[in-house]
Amino acid sequence: MTITLNTPRLTLRRWREDDIEAMAAINSDPEVMRWIGDGSVRDRAQTAAGIAAWEEEWEERGIGLFAAELREEKQLVGFVGLMVPAYLPEVMPAVEIGWRLGRSYWGRGLATEGARAVLDFALRERDLARVVSVHHTGNTASERIMLKLGMRRERETVHPEFGIPLRVYVLETQS
Ligand SMILES: CC(C)(COP(=O)(O)OP(=O)(O)OC[C@H]1O[C@@H](n2cnc3c(N)ncnc32)[C@H](O)[C@@H]1OP(=O)(O)O)[C@@H](O)C(=O)NCCC(=O)NCCS
Repeated sequence: MTITLNTPRLTLRRWREDDIEAMAAINSDPEVMRWIGDGSVRDRAQTAAGIAAWEEEWEERGIGLFAAELREEKQLVGFVGLMVPAYLPEVMPAVEIGWRLGRSYWGRGLATEGARAVLDFALRERDLARVVSVHHTGNTASERIMLKLGMRRERETVHPEFGIPLRVYVLETQS
């Protein structure tokens, strides 16, 4: 299944072997990982395993995380995409939209630009009626993206594994 989404600046596409290096560099930055899971960084092997799992998700469910590449520079900047938030049983069944970019690409509106295209894909191409997004309370940049996407805050909760406060946003289409 080849799926590519184009935004003005980004190509959102399936993962390739040669993305591992660039994604591993992003995952090794403590500032990037600060608000993810327990905040620990990932090494190259963990990143490679992650990419393999994301690709399996695409094959099995027809949704997944897109590799986000700056089209002109042909540079991987991170990911934007869809996943199943199994780590948070209280919101299941659900599909979550999420994003992670390398630090040097922050502050240019790229995550929002990619997320708008992914949300459109979710609603139109996958006929999803409900998409959630979850961030660690305090991750203001991520919350701002959720608001810009037109999502509404649904609940405050706690990460079942790490005990960290979370905010859940949701976007529902009217039936
Ligand atoms: C979250 C992340 C993807 C944002 O990427 P980005 O391309 O800089 O995002 P955008 O520019 O599209 O939008 C960010 C918004 O948050 C705002 N913002 C950024 N940092 C902020 C802060 N510390 N406080 C308040 N607002 C902030 C920006 O001004 C922008 O809002 P605006 O368009 O109204 O000005 C990026 O910071 C990242 O990868 N962080 C690490 C991974 C992560 O936390 N992922 C999310 C897990 S839930």
